[in-house]
Amino acid sequence: MKISVIGAGNVGATCAHILASKGFAQEVVLVDILEGIPQGKGLDMWEAAPVAGSDTRIVGSNGYGETAKSDIIVITAGLARKPGMTREDLLAKNTEIVKDVTQNVAKVSPNAILIVISNPLDTMTYVALKVSGFNHNKVFGMAGILDTARYRSFIALELNVSVEDVAAVVLGGHGDTMVPMPRLTTVGGVPLTDLLPKERIDAIVDRTRKGGIEIVNFLKTGSAYYAPAAAAVQMCESVALDKKRVLPCACWLTGQYGLKDLYMGVPAMLGKNGVEKVLEIKFTDDEKASFTKSAEAIRKTMSEAKVT
Ligand code: LAC
Repeated sequence: MKISVIGAGNVGATCAHILASKGFAQEVVLVDILEGIPQGKGLDMWEAAPVAGSDTRIVGSNGYGETAKSDIIVITAGLARKPGMTREDLLAKNTEIVKDVTQNVAKVSPNAILIVISNPLDTMTYVALKVSGFNHNKVFGMAGILDTARYRSFIALELNVSVEDVAAVVLGGHGDTMVPMPRLTTVGGVPLTDLLPKERIDAIVDRTRKGGIEIVNFLKTGSAYYAPAAAAVQMCESVALDKKRVLPCACWLTGQYGLKDLYMGVPAMLGKNGVEKVLEIKFTDDEKASFTKSAEAIRKTMSEAKVT
């Protein structure tokens, strides 16, 4: 299993580091245009391997030659937002970056699976799909696991329970219109709606929707990276080990949920072929309305991206 991570910034480097600690990839290639940065970070991580007990070979490079024949490519390249910016403000610049990266990686790894993290997420995944020409089951985006992890972590704090026992899903686009699903949230099998009053659940849902900007406002110079990287690695793991985990991911819809030709956060079964299945939830009217609103927001951003 060879995994390339494009972008050696905070998300990319953290991703490579977690991949090494998990050990399911034999080789991780970290690529960035900044001279010396991927080489230095990659070497530093490799030097940690004897202490960490990891045999994952990590190398850094400024070119794409080293990424040839990757099984999975994680695209993190692009600008991160600063306070006052929405993810959509990154559209023009990151479209150019993701286009360039995708062209380069697709050329040398025509059979790879592409996992996109760059923002605005749903649209950047669309750019990678169009530019690579890969089948849509092999191009998908990381957002739902991150948004769900934030939601689960806030519920665990509120109830003072283990994060492991909070089962939940957050659907829709990776933006203000995302759709957390309290009706389907359980804590050790107990419905969340039996454990917390509506106003507390609403407050947690609201904090989840604003989870990205909460971190940006603290960091000031960029956006979150520990949780996004951990989420991307969970997707890589399900693909690499053909685990067939069901995880919320940005998937290309072909009629599921009554929608097609857009990326949307939905529960997906991830295995060696990438997205092997999109699972459908029967929505209540309110949930359906929120999901539709989110789809409209994504279509708007997608239509503004200059893909060709
Ligand atoms: C976030 C950014 C990375 O949600 O989209 O933190």
